[in-house]
Amino acid sequence: MHIPERLLLGPGPSMIAPRVMRAMASPVLSHLDPDLMTMMDDVRARLARLFQAPDDALTIAMSGTGTSGMEAMIANLVSDGTRVLVVTTGYFGDRLADICRRYGATITHVSAEWGRAIDPAAVKSALRSSGTKGIEIVAAVHAETSTGVLNPIEDIATAAREHGALMLVDAVTSLGGHPLDADGWGLDAVYSCTQKCVGAPSGMSPVLWSARARAKKEPCRSFYLDLDLLEAYWLQRKYHHTLSSTMIYALHEALTMIEEEGLEARWERHRRNHLTLAKGLEAMGLSLLPPESERLWTLNAVKVPPGVDEAAVRRALLTKYSIEIGAGLGPLAGKIWRVGLMGASSSPSSILIFLGALEHVLRDAGHACPPGAGVAAAAAAG
Ligand SMILES: Cc1ncc(COP(=O)(O)O)c(C=O)c1O
Repeated sequence: MHIPERLLLGPGPSMIAPRVMRAMASPVLSHLDPDLMTMMDDVRARLARLFQAPDDALTIAMSGTGTSGMEAMIANLVSDGTRVLVVTTGYFGDRLADICRRYGATITHVSAEWGRAIDPAAVKSALRSSGTKGIEIVAAVHAETSTGVLNPIEDIATAAREHGALMLVDAVTSLGGHPLDADGWGLDAVYSCTQKCVGAPSGMSPVLWSARARAKKEPCRSFYLDLDLLEAYWLQRKYHHTLSSTMIYALHEALTMIEEEGLEARWERHRRNHLTLAKGLEAMGLSLLPPESERLWTLNAVKVPPGVDEAAVRRALLTKYSIEIGAGLGPLAGKIWRVGLMGASSSPSSILIFLGALEHVLRDAGHACPPGAGVAAAAAAG
């Protein structure tokens, strides 16, 4: 088996710290082993701190990737005719709407063009005009990975609360990289993933389930995603499924690293490195898609210069330099590259290696820039 070593700078997965990889080499425990259960209790407590969860919330990790958390939140809150307002500003907002539809929701859309954040006034106005039989759930993506845009979740959640609706949030590309305060912002159902800013491989989906959400829980059509059954397993040790102890070790070690670094220091690292990359790109004549005030720190949507074959650039980065970046999705296919700086991938050295390689690949693709300009500007900024 030959697995190449990549520098992972796409939309996820991100690089994994060696100590997280080592944790996964520990002996397997059964899903009901008391020592594993003790570790799961600790994971719950660490997740509560990471989400900044209210005291009465349940915080666990679903077995599955981010989409399992997404579907779990919907499967436990939505049934035929549930009125959901879905904020769509890109590919993952569309996925939220798709899954809500599959569970029978009556959907109201509030959208922004791809590359822009939602204006909270548009959400407020849609809530007002939803009338007496109003919206029951507002669902939105915090960090839209397809466009590199940060949505103003705190303001949207305030509007939802004033309307008496629950707030469901996708924090897949924000948890651990951008400030998120579930208690302070009044969030009810939040899901994320392990492979981006949290620092473990893909395979689990941390979720937060508030007491307000629990009070409005629907009978869940999915056995695997039923949060009552999962709570009974995580808290009362009642068998539900054969949880992977290996994934729990990885998540536990990654969460420990987050607390060692400190949440605020971690957010600041993601902010600083994003700004450093932006400076380097600018010096190379490249720019980012979203306006400055709406940009993610975790995922950079870089505009492809006119005349450059975007796929050829990605291919050359991968084959010549073993660096992965992502392509644009949907209407942005061929128009942007998606450069992730998340978790262990968010580092000054990743940025300098990437900018150096990009300069050479871009020159071959017909976009010349002053030699060393990107690296020099990033080094000066960092
Ligand atoms: C914002 C967002 N939501 C949901 C998902 C789905 O997560 P997963 O691919 O881990 O199932 C992703 C994946 O990139 C994402 O970026």
